[in-house]
Amino acid sequence: MSRGERKTVLITGSSGGIGMATAIYLAEKGYSVVATSRSDDRLAALKSLAAERRLPISTVVMDVNSDEAVNSVLPGVLAEHGGVDALVNNAGYSLWGPGESLSIGELRDVFETNFYAAFRMMQGVLPGMTELGSGTIVNVTSVEGRIVTPFNGGYGATKFALEGLSEAMRLELWPLGVRVVVIEPGLYSTNLFANQVVADRTEASDLRYGPLLARYRKHRAGYDRLAKDPVKVARVIHRAIRSKRPRFRYTVGAEATLGILASRYLPERLFQTLVSRALLR
Ligand SMILES: NC(=O)c1ccc[n+]([C@@H]2O[C@H](COP(=O)([O-])OP(=O)(O)OC[C@H]3O[C@@H](n4cnc5c(N)ncnc54)[C@H](OP(=O)(O)O)[C@@H]3O)[C@@H](O)[C@H]2O)c1
Repeated sequence: MSRGERKTVLITGSSGGIGMATAIYLAEKGYSVVATSRSDDRLAALKSLAAERRLPISTVVMDVNSDEAVNSVLPGVLAEHGGVDALVNNAGYSLWGPGESLSIGELRDVFETNFYAAFRMMQGVLPGMTELGSGTIVNVTSVEGRIVTPFNGGYGATKFALEGLSEAMRLELWPLGVRVVVIEPGLYSTNLFANQVVADRTEASDLRYGPLLARYRKHRAGYDRLAKDPVKVARVIHRAIRSKRPRFRYTVGAEATLGILASRYLPERLFQTLVSRALLR
């Protein structure tokens, strides 16, 4: 636990979306928030909001993809706050395109941020947490970390990987007093889709996905209208951090819960038909 009266939460990727919503929500609930981003410019909106509302949010520029950046910045943050009570590994982006079209480089890059960076941050805070015998690691995965939809295989793979690592670390760290949870959002209104990386060879003429891509895009535009306020995810993150005995998985959003239940209880072929009808017909 940190030494101050307030509990301290470090959130990565806080310049917008779920990260920013969570920073504001937790600060309003009385947490001291350390909000990180790769860019000071992109933190401007959060900074001015925090100043306006006098919220206990400090912003830190740190590229979670870089050993060098994290090694040079994180120890200072931990020293300043007397450690952190919770880490929210939120930074992430979506890689989109047919599995066949993905390059190894595109896959490596998305794993770098969505998986290795989260791991790097866990390694950074865990010595302090295990020494004190308390703390919570919140890994923001996705409903795509449970069921992967067409053209999201690269992104889903990173989220499955993070869920797998988290599941083992949850068991290992529970006896040491540290809680590991995953948050699995459905569709939320953030910059995720604007920032989505479309694989270079998605539309390559030697690939045969053209009509499927068009149908997917048409369906997807309809579903995007269902995207909800990311503060709903922030509330669930708060619930997980506050709990002494949090669940492992927090699925957020009715469509995500429904999809996961359907994948678990329906026969595989039927589930596949339903997903194909919903996205590719
Ligand atoms: N929105 C949804 O519907 C949804 C659903 C399921 C899961 N999620 C997950 O929720 C998390 C937050 O996403 P969001 O929806 O809030 O999207 P967002 O608005 O795009 O925010 C993502 C944050 O991640 C950081 N980020 C993006 N690309 C990065 C890169 N290459 N290297 C390092 N950091 C990077 C950015 O931080 P800086 O630019 O500030 O460094 C940004 O603030 C992600 O892990 C995402 O996979 C979102």
